[in-house]
Amino acid sequence: MNSPSNRSGLVARVQNVVTQRMAGQAAGHGMDHVLRVLSSARAIQSRTGGDLMIVELAALLHDVGDAKFHDGVERSAEFTREILLELGADDADIQHVAHIVDNISFRKRDAAKPLSLEGQIVQDADRLDALGAIGIVRTIEFGAAFGQPFYLPNAPSEKTGVGHFHDKLFKLKSLMNTDAARNMAQDREAFMRQFLDQFLAENEG
Ligand code: ADP
Ligand code: NI
Repeated sequence: MNSPSNRSGLVARVQNVVTQRMAGQAAGHGMDHVLRVLSSARAIQSRTGGDLMIVELAALLHDVGDAKFHDGVERSAEFTREILLELGADDADIQHVAHIVDNISFRKRDAAKPLSLEGQIVQDADRLDALGAIGIVRTIEFGAAFGQPFYLPNAPSEKTGVGHFHDKLFKLKSLMNTDAARNMAQDREAFMRQFLDQFLAENEG
């Protein structure tokens, strides 16, 4: 059984395991992303309520088996079950966290099952990390890793970072589950639009 003190100990132990497992993963996709998601998820939970331990565990574990680092196979939910079982978490908590991890990604949007409040919070926190200054940097880093230019006049939108802003990132605000995250998304999106305006103005000279 998880008494309240065991529960907080579990979060710290999971954080250690995830830190080890994700060591060496590129900035923007590694522990830095996970810790930002954890911190945003805590901020949202303080406004919405919900089970804080479940929120913290799901935030920490949501990318632990990211397909980009596992031969194209998404293994986060599988690793989540293994790690939580090993650390002695309650069965119901394991099922709950694994369900969240299995269903929050953008890619699964249409196939995803309904999320609990805790799942909605972590999904919002993950989406927030694709916005704002961090989101701009992550888009550029993604492009650098995959040989995609940030901007090319007249290029198809799926071929550039600027296209990615329009195709995906500017849609995230309206997909937010919670009002708290929608408000944060609003500020971050406004900053990105301001950046893009200046970027395009400079390009025109
Ligand atoms: P997460 O790691 O949070 O699950 P993703 O792996 O989908 O998210 O994306 C990681 C980062 O790379 C995000 O900031 C996302 O906006 C960016 N990214 C994903 N696909 C593209 C793309 N086609 N072009 C530019 N950036 C991308
Ligand atoms: Ni993520």
